Amino acid sequence: MKVAVLISGRGSNLQALIDAGVAPGWPAEIVLVISNVAGAEGLERAGKAGIATAVIDHKTFDGRKPFDKAMTAAIEKAGAEFVCLAGFMRLLSDPFIDHWRDRLINIHPSLLPAFKGLGVHQRVLDAGEKASGCTVHFVRSEMDTGPIIVQAEVPVRPDDDAKALAARVLEQEHKIYPRALRLIAEDRVTVEGERALIDGQ
Ligand code: GRF
Repeated sequence: MKVAVLISGRGSNLQALIDAGVAPGWPAEIVLVISNVAGAEGLERAGKAGIATAVIDHKTFDGRKPFDKAMTAAIEKAGAEFVCLAGFMRLLSDPFIDHWRDRLINIHPSLLPAFKGLGVHQRVLDAGEKASGCTVHFVRSEMDTGPIIVQAEVPVRPDDDAKALAARVLEQEHKIYPRALRLIAEDRVTVEGERALIDGQ
């Protein structure tokens, strides 16, 4: 399965996907990394792995839809049939989300549907949660919603600050994103209603 990854920054989840890809028989190939931010660290990671990159700067477009259209054009030109959001910090327009329906996934650093949006870890601490985690899900038009593919839970420790919790969650993100992509590329994930089933379950 040929995949495009959309990033805006650090790209550690992109790196996890790149690293997973070296395993023999891995069923997904990253053919393009797009960043809306020039100089994003993730672009360097892609370059080092010999993956084609593109900077598509949203600020040079007249609104969301033309920007999204340019991304779809670049993704399709690269031959990708599937899109992973990995720390991509722009909201996507409905036409983009519809075009890539069930071929577009995201990773979010909470146990969705709890704690959507930004600044998750501090909010988890403020709420006194005993557990947090991360979620890989198909993308729907409402932010951080869509059929959940894989989740991982981590404990929240009494002495955690947002940084410590983020690091614990991120470690799990790097495990579940490749796992989810692999399941999809192996054709083991189906969407029924708003539920993603793995091997029919
Ligand atoms: C991750 O925490 C991811 O869950 C969220 O944005 C962050 C991106 O980190 N969507 P990185 O760029 O993959 O290192």
